[in-house]
Amino acid sequence: MTTINFTLNGEPVSADVKPHHNVVEVLQRDFNLTGARESCGQGLCGCCTVIVDGKAVSGCLYLAIFLDGTQVRTIEGMADGDTLSPEQEAFIEAGAFQCGYCTPGFILMTRQLLDENPDPDDDAIKHYLSGNLCRCGAYLEIMEAVKLAARKRKGAANIG
Ligand code: FES
Ligand code: FES
Repeated sequence: MTTINFTLNGEPVSADVKPHHNVVEVLQRDFNLTGARESCGQGLCGCCTVIVDGKAVSGCLYLAIFLDGTQVRTIEGMADGDTLSPEQEAFIEAGAFQCGYCTPGFILMTRQLLDENPDPDDDAIKHYLSGNLCRCGAYLEIMEAVKLAARKRKGAANIG
C-alpha cells in the first residue's frame, strides 16, 4: 500500500492504495462517494467521470496513485450545502435522465463545457459530450439541460 494525499471536493484527505486501484474504487471504498460509477470499464462511456486538476478523467482507467497532490472534484462536490449547482438544477428541471446512472458524468462535463464556452451551440454541446453515453437515450433532454444550465449561469452571473 502507498499513502496518497489529495484534496477531495475542497477537503484534504489521504488514502492507502495499491498500484492497480482505480479512482472509482478508492472513492467508493474509502470515501463512500458513489456518484462516479463504473459501467464500461474501458474509458468509453463517461459514467466514471471525475475532475482532476481541472481536467475530466475516466475514473475507471485513472489509477488512484496518480491522485497524490491533486485537486479532485466529484459530483458530490457540485452543490453548495443544500443549494444545487445551476447544472444540477437544469438536469432536474429538464428531466434529463431516466435511471440516472450516466447523470453525474454528464453534469460534471456540462460544468467543464460551460466553464470553457458559456454559450455553446448544439454542435458544440454534442461534440463536448460525445464521450458520455446514456443508455436510456435521454439525449434530447440532456441537450435542453445544458442550454438551461447556460442560461441559469448567465442569470447567476448577472445577479452577481
Ligand atoms: S466506466 Fe469509465 S468510461 Fe465507462
Ligand atoms: S439516464 Fe439511464 S443511462 Fe442515462
